[in-house]
Amino acid sequence: MSEKTAANLWGGRFTGETDSGFAEFNRSFGFDRRLFSADVQASIAHCDALVGADVLTAAEAQQIHSALQEILERAQREPDYFKEAAEDVHSFVEARLTDIVGDLGRKLHTGRSRNDQVATDLRLWLRAGIDRMASTVVDTQAALLEIAEANPDVVIPGYTHLQRAQPVLFAHWCLAYFEMLSRDRERLGEARKRVNVLPLGSAALAGTSYAIDREAVARALGFDSVSCNSLDAVGDRDFCIEFAGVASLIMMHLSRLAEDIILYSTTEFGFFELGDAIATGSSLMPQKKNPDSMELVRGKAGRVFGHLAALLTMMKGLPLAYNKDMQEDKEAIFDTVDTVSNCLTVTATVLRNTRVNQLRAREAAIRGYLNATELADYLARKGMPFRQAHETVGKIVMLAIERDCELNDLPLDEFKSFSQLFDDDVFKALSLDETLSTKSQIGGTARERVSEALVAARKRLAAD
Ligand code: ARG
Repeated sequence: MSEKTAANLWGGRFTGETDSGFAEFNRSFGFDRRLFSADVQASIAHCDALVGADVLTAAEAQQIHSALQEILERAQREPDYFKEAAEDVHSFVEARLTDIVGDLGRKLHTGRSRNDQVATDLRLWLRAGIDRMASTVVDTQAALLEIAEANPDVVIPGYTHLQRAQPVLFAHWCLAYFEMLSRDRERLGEARKRVNVLPLGSAALAGTSYAIDREAVARALGFDSVSCNSLDAVGDRDFCIEFAGVASLIMMHLSRLAEDIILYSTTEFGFFELGDAIATGSSLMPQKKNPDSMELVRGKAGRVFGHLAALLTMMKGLPLAYNKDMQEDKEAIFDTVDTVSNCLTVTATVLRNTRVNQLRAREAAIRGYLNATELADYLARKGMPFRQAHETVGKIVMLAIERDCELNDLPLDEFKSFSQLFDDDVFKALSLDETLSTKSQIGGTARERVSEALVAARKRLAAD
């Protein structure tokens, strides 16, 4: 089984034929066709640069331009356009160009290598991917604000170690995830800066010997700057790894949100009810309503972390500059963008289809001694050293457990038997309202702080 070398981009040096199994193995067109429009766009910019370098005449460039334009349009129109066999997207575009303009098409590769070409294409593609993803992050943040604003009075138990700790406003919980996604958005912006550097003009590894105005190419393609070292430019995939790192953090955050939602929708917690639109039933158990949407988001985090690990491992120990190992970057990057974007979208839909059970959440927030810290603070405010207050309240909690009641249910006399500092006002201090309102410093869960934080969050979102 063999394939004619004439179909390759490297005719002259070879007399033998490529093994067809290897040709298939070597081929990336099955997936890198997603770089098609980036490749055409970069080819147009390179074509213009070749005019400046006196390689092409203006008339030749014009011919190439309209042929590349035609290729773009045909790809959109003809579903079978990509059926044509090709090794990769770069050879595909060059072959289609040559179909239209003949030998002139073969001039376009002057001063360019697939090494700087693929790095340029991938950066263009990823830049657009990051921009789309950033706006999906914003939409998920908007969904968090919507559900928070729709439930301003809801109180839920806050947990540490998944044990009831202190009550918090439901909106405060929403804003916690809003903050995580804000940092993610910032990180996407940071990563984008390092994506947006032009490698084209580095050629295979040593730089180009034609008078190509790289700055002009960068401007034409919307890059902020040009790469400073040709060896680095074609051998670098830091931008992919950094992006996969940012994407992994997004998935880590989404998986924590998913886990909270899954947990809070159980019968045991009962704080949330998932809408029919984003839940599934069981083929066997008629009563079931399963949070598959959130479970998939939680599960897909592992897939994205896997891509990060794959990219790091693929690059580790590679000698300078380009190596074919690097062809493995694309599927990881494409799937990372797809997966994270889908997970963000589904999460926003889940938030928009979730009902909060105010009563259940409140019941849970006032049972289980979530106000014990208030009691210690009460004693501390009256002058008892906090350590001692903590110990005293620990004993009062033991008594309440014994009596099978909450702290507020104990009579004042009982309190007084632990310390003379206790007075009538202890019951106010133990109330749910007081527990919340005392958390009034910046970042706390007091009602005024949280409503301010909601307004500020809206403004931040609108500013983007
Ligand atoms: N398909 C290749 C890749 O994705 C393009 C670059 C090939 N360069 C080379 N010298 N073989 O990395």
